[in-house]
Amino acid sequence: MMDARTPALPAWSGEGEQAKWEDRTAIITGAASGIGREASLALSRAGARVVLVDRDKGGLEETRSLVGSGQALVFLADLLEAGVENAIVDEALEKFASPDILVNCAGVFPTRPALDLPVQEWDGVLNLNLRAPFLLSQAVARQIVSTGRSGSIVNIASTAGVVARPRVAHYCASKAALIMLTKVLAIEWAEHNIRVNAVAPGLVETPGVTGSLTTEEDEHEHQQKLAKIPLARSGEPWEIADAVVFLASSAASYVTGHTLFVDGGYSAGHTFRG
Ligand SMILES: NC(=O)c1ccc[n+]([C@@H]2O[C@H](COP(=O)([O-])OP(=O)(O)OC[C@H]3O[C@@H](n4cnc5c(N)ncnc54)[C@H](O)[C@@H]3O)[C@@H](O)[C@H]2O)c1
Repeated sequence: MMDARTPALPAWSGEGEQAKWEDRTAIITGAASGIGREASLALSRAGARVVLVDRDKGGLEETRSLVGSGQALVFLADLLEAGVENAIVDEALEKFASPDILVNCAGVFPTRPALDLPVQEWDGVLNLNLRAPFLLSQAVARQIVSTGRSGSIVNIASTAGVVARPRVAHYCASKAALIMLTKVLAIEWAEHNIRVNAVAPGLVETPGVTGSLTTEEDEHEHQQKLAKIPLARSGEPWEIADAVVFLASSAASYVTGHTLFVDGGYSAGHTFRG
């Protein structure tokens, strides 16, 4: 755990970039746990105001207290609820300012063989991992366009969007689609100076991941996945958060439509260790 770290990257270092982190308002979904929490803390440490969105009240409050003296706002919401995207943008506008940064991080990753996959579970995964990021991106982008400012959206994808695994047909499909959505929005919104990128984490042992290891098969697959990582370890949430800060910042001012894999080399190919 790296709570006391300062971000590895310089804040708004690009020449000609007028905005400073202190002028920036970031919305982060999934902020109550794991990668979303760490991304929230990293953006806050950089100086941005953060709007913390999640359906887990206790986790949100904990993230809020970890932010310390930074400016943070808690927004308790289920991202599957109709119209929630506009409520989030309205809250940011009312309490802080027009949002400039959006990190779509909330996601679920249940496992089930495709032959047994009920349509409700398929819809639940696709609705949270793909539809909700689209709707919130649209609401935030509309707001950014209305102000004439620049913006940056970072979608949290996954290596599962490019490397197939068994028992996660819905998850893999949702993340592959999120990577493509990232590209389409990047080219459509470039004229509005809104950059859209993705970070694709490899294996990161967050509460969501460790909590999902409920069967022997889950644990076995987890160990197999670990054994396939060229850097021979899982990633830390802050390693994903630093990539988010980079893409959100002016250090990435010429980067859009990109998916940055932060996966210890997992998606690059196989390793034959052991
Ligand atoms: N941890 C990994 O190994 C890994 C790898 C690749 C991609 N990812 C992606 O990173 C993201 C975060 O994963 P994590 O490992 O930190 O998981 P996590 O379970 O620790 O955190 C996910 C957060 O999303 C929130 N959430 C879930 N459903 C929600 C809903 N309907 N409305 C509002 N909030 C909701 C949860 O309450 C939780 O706080 C996900 O999109 C996941 O697919 C994770």
